Amino acid sequence: MNRLDKTTIICRCEEISYEEIEDVISIGARRFDDVKRLTRCGMGPCQSKICSSLVAEIIHDKTGLPFPEIPLPRMRMPISPIKIGTLTTNSTTFSSVKSVLDEVELEDGKVK
Ligand code: FES
Repeated sequence: MNRLDKTTIICRCEEISYEEIEDVISIGARRFDDVKRLTRCGMGPCQSKICSSLVAEIIHDKTGLPFPEIPLPRMRMPISPIKIGTLTTNSTTFSSVKSVLDEVELEDGKVK
């Protein structure tokens, strides 16, 4: 990952730089969740969907750990953004819980 300099933002949601990830790896972080706890990387609105693979790549580069030995980030519900009103309903059927993305209307492949 030589194409990144120390100021490159790895986690866009929390504005965590490559250097910050490097620093926590140098003190022993070996899993995405270690990096998350020490930097807040992965705690943004995308819930690590964008940054987790980049962090795994940095861990691999810095430690030599093979990718299969770098655990995926722990996911917590809800997996996708939903309205708080959806959570407060008493419904027990999964189909009533929808993502806000389900409500986006598209026209010619673009959001209306
Ligand atoms: S880019 Fe890291 S949480 Fe979104």
